Amino acid sequence: MAARNRMAVVSWLLQVGFFLLLLSGRSGGRPTGKCVGHGPCQPPRPPVVLVPGDLGNQLEAKLDKPSVVHYICYKKTDSFFTLWLNLELLVPVAIDCWIDNIRLIYNRTTHTTSSPPGVDIRVPGFGKTYSLEFLDPSKRSVGMYFFTIVQALVDWGYTRDDDVRGAPYDWRKAPNENKEYFLRLQQMIEEMAEKAGGPVVLIAHSMGNMYTLYFLNQQPQAWKDKYIKAFICLGPPWAGVAKTLRVIISGDNNRIPVISPLKIRSQQRSAVSTSWLLPYARAWPKDEVLVQTPTANYTMADYKRLYSDIGFEDGWLMRQDTESLVADFTPPGVAVHCLYGSGIDTSEAFRYSDKFPDVEPTVVWGDGDGTVNLRSAIQCKQWAGKQKQPVTLKELPGNEHVDMLLNMTTVSYIKTVLFSP
Ligand SMILES: *[C@@H]1O[C@H](CO)[C@@H](O)[C@H](O)[C@H]1NC(C)=O
Ligand SMILES: *[C@@H]1O[C@H](CO)[C@@H](O)[C@H](O)[C@H]1NC(C)=O
Ligand SMILES: *[C@@H]1O[C@H](CO)[C@@H](O)[C@H](O)[C@H]1NC(C)=O
Repeated sequence: MAARNRMAVVSWLLQVGFFLLLLSGRSGGRPTGKCVGHGPCQPPRPPVVLVPGDLGNQLEAKLDKPSVVHYICYKKTDSFFTLWLNLELLVPVAIDCWIDNIRLIYNRTTHTTSSPPGVDIRVPGFGKTYSLEFLDPSKRSVGMYFFTIVQALVDWGYTRDDDVRGAPYDWRKAPNENKEYFLRLQQMIEEMAEKAGGPVVLIAHSMGNMYTLYFLNQQPQAWKDKYIKAFICLGPPWAGVAKTLRVIISGDNNRIPVISPLKIRSQQRSAVSTSWLLPYARAWPKDEVLVQTPTANYTMADYKRLYSDIGFEDGWLMRQDTESLVADFTPPGVAVHCLYGSGIDTSEAFRYSDKFPDVEPTVVWGDGDGTVNLRSAIQCKQWAGKQKQPVTLKELPGNEHVDMLLNMTTVSYIKTVLFSP
């Protein structure tokens, strides 16, 4: 079968376009035109740092494993190769190798995760943009992510890897396990601000907003006043995302039939960031049923029981390890621009048959951007008046979670923020 069938599957995947968990890629979108017309085109430009979301930058792996799950899997590689996003690894059989490499192992004593024995994972391109412009290094449009925004910035006079830079990270983990990342981020911001002679604008997408909020909450106000001009939040899941419940319960293949949800579930559960993004009480009433089975109802207050009933006890520990990171929702103390899509069916609750948890649920739909629930995105409203810097919300009706990065309304909004005094 091999080659030909596999190619067919790959090309089919390319046509369908997908990412496995929080992203759902689309092609299209053209960069805006060059700066034209009247007036000077080169006012002082604030440097820009981009913070991607879950699954939002490349990951690389190098292997020297004691054992593999299938004879076709590589046991040892001479160098690092792209583990995310690499569509050729996401086809039947190969995906088993992929899952065994990208999964994390949780240690209940240390409350930390590590890669399986013999798997070395690294995040390529810190300080550069390539690893978040295209998730797939071959630059297939299916993996196009921050490209449209970066290209627009370049058209306005920015230079890649100089005054617009990316801050990729290991999105499988939550901030508690990415301490070094925040130090590097701080250093990069300071360097860029000093070089430019002015503060930096942060642009985050999806879970990157939670990362950025955590980061800003750690910084003294004087540091933020000096180094941060504004924080542009795209599709922020401030109070979590209901979809993650489905992910941990029964897995989510995003309707790609060749990938079994139950198979991908083991990897999705192992990512601590999934449990970090479970809905938070600040947007979900305590008595709202999020998950229903013939014999039980689960609300926000029942996570412990839920994790136990699905046979994923470590998940409850992961949730407890991470819940407090941004739980008190302290205002970031910088000017905030919150942009979010709405009007797209977004999963809000799940009903399971008696085959729970090893079965696909019936989805109860609500409003949002297809991934982030509207009520979660608009939480930034709470900051207005609680910090002296302005908090601006902008709804983008009809914008899907990832498509909003390609939309010209988003791009022009960013331009306005960058070039306002
Ligand atoms: C967890 O970490 C502790 C402390 O480093 C170590 O002693 C223990 O062997 C680890 N457990 C597993 C299952 O790896
Ligand atoms: C779950 O809640 C629904 C109403 O939301 C109720 O009809 C049902 O009886 C409850 N099921 C259990 C097992 O408590
Ligand atoms: C871009 O976003 C605006 C504002 O939500 C929306 O009206 C428009 O349809 C979107 N454009 C595309 C091409 O999706």
